[in-house]
Amino acid sequence: MSNIPEWRAELATGSAEIDSQHRHLLELARKVVDSFDTAGCDRETFHWHLNELAVLADEHFATEEALLSAHGDPLLSKHRAEHDQYREQITGLLMAAMRGKLDRAGLCQVLHDWTTHHLLETDMGSRQYLVEHHAP
Ligand SMILES: [Fe+2]
Ligand SMILES: [Fe+2]
Repeated sequence: MSNIPEWRAELATGSAEIDSQHRHLLELARKVVDSFDTAGCDRETFHWHLNELAVLADEHFATEEALLSAHGDPLLSKHRAEHDQYREQITGLLMAAMRGKLDRAGLCQVLHDWTTHHLLETDMGSRQYLVEHHAP
């Protein structure tokens, strides 16, 4: 059993797009961690999960930073620095995978840190700025 949090109503922001991406992240993280626990992660599955995570991270961080910027979140630069750390870690995992090293523990660590520390503390701490744009 993974210790990845479940989606719950308290995690909802004012943005349907952010909520959908967070749900996707939590589902992916649980699937990945569970597959490692059961030794069900072969080479192909590892690459597939890692690529899915890289695409989601790119899209999600850009969406989130645009909303935080548009709404003037005073903690944006600190928030972006955390995103940059995940971007670097995921790039490192991708590069290692291209060289044939499948860093399962490293991938689990990124997923665990992102879904607990970052999502629950950093994202939720800026929830008031994660709302949809409304036409004036
Ligand atoms: Fe974030
Ligand atoms: Fe987020």
